[in-house]
Amino acid sequence: MMPAAPSRDATDTVRQHGAPLHIAIVMDGNGRWARARHRPRSFGHSAGRKAVRAVVEACLREGVQALTLFAFSSENWLRPRDEVGALMNLFVRALDKEVDELRANGVRLRFVGELGAFDAGLHRRMQAAMDSTAQNSRLQVNVAVNYGGRWDITQACRCAAQAVARGELRPEEIDEARLDAWMSLGALPPLDLLIRTGGELRLSNFLLWQAAYAELYFTDTLWPDFDAACLHQAIEEYVQRERRYGRTSEQLAPLP
Ligand code: IPE
Ligand code: IPE
Ligand code: MG
Repeated sequence: MMPAAPSRDATDTVRQHGAPLHIAIVMDGNGRWARARHRPRSFGHSAGRKAVRAVVEACLREGVQALTLFAFSSENWLRPRDEVGALMNLFVRALDKEVDELRANGVRLRFVGELGAFDAGLHRRMQAAMDSTAQNSRLQVNVAVNYGGRWDITQACRCAAQAVARGELRPEEIDEARLDAWMSLGALPPLDLLIRTGGELRLSNFLLWQAAYAELYFTDTLWPDFDAACLHQAIEEYVQRERRYGRTSEQLAPLP
């Protein structure tokens, strides 16, 4: 039997890997950070902005090509109205304050998720930030908002179905590579390292497709306390990992 066509992860990344090119982070623990200080949860969300800045700056220094941050899940709408409102205000404030500096530092900013669900003013700001940084290529920062991994897979399948309906694609031509290209982040290097702060050991519906062969790193550090040193520690551990993609260690040994 012919082996199945390997996915993009398995074909070109079996190598002695260096630093990660694409890092994703579930920025969790803001609420507990605030509670420990007897402050409202929104205080923890605001404090998390400093950690975002620190991580973006560290990625610029470490030569990372793409950083994908989980800022608001499709399930987070279920939180109390006040908290959702505070998060939306924080996104507006952050967009108004940070975009110029990001642009000046060569960052391309993208929002991934179902953006149509946000109010018109916020949606417009997100689009403007994407447009104004679109020419940059030093570091791509993706902010996942109203994002869910199952939504992502579903919308890619819908794109495939539409291409079939238009007569541009036959069903048997739908393969992993084509679906991957329709998935959010499809044009970027494969996800190398997925970090979750805040101590929970789950993906919470983040990047389900893209995480297939990512290295997972969980830390108890709460997001507002995460900084460049924490990121560096995660990268150091990542570099020590052996990425086998189903092969054996011996198969990975460099040729004599
Ligand atoms: C993550 O921190 C931020 C968002 C989900 C928006 P949390 O708000 O989930 O903080 P904890 O997990 O309750 O501490
Ligand atoms: C995941 O954190 C979403 C973000 C960090 C944006 P949650 O705090 O919402 O995840 P659960 O509910 O603990 O799984
Ligand atoms: Mg949480």
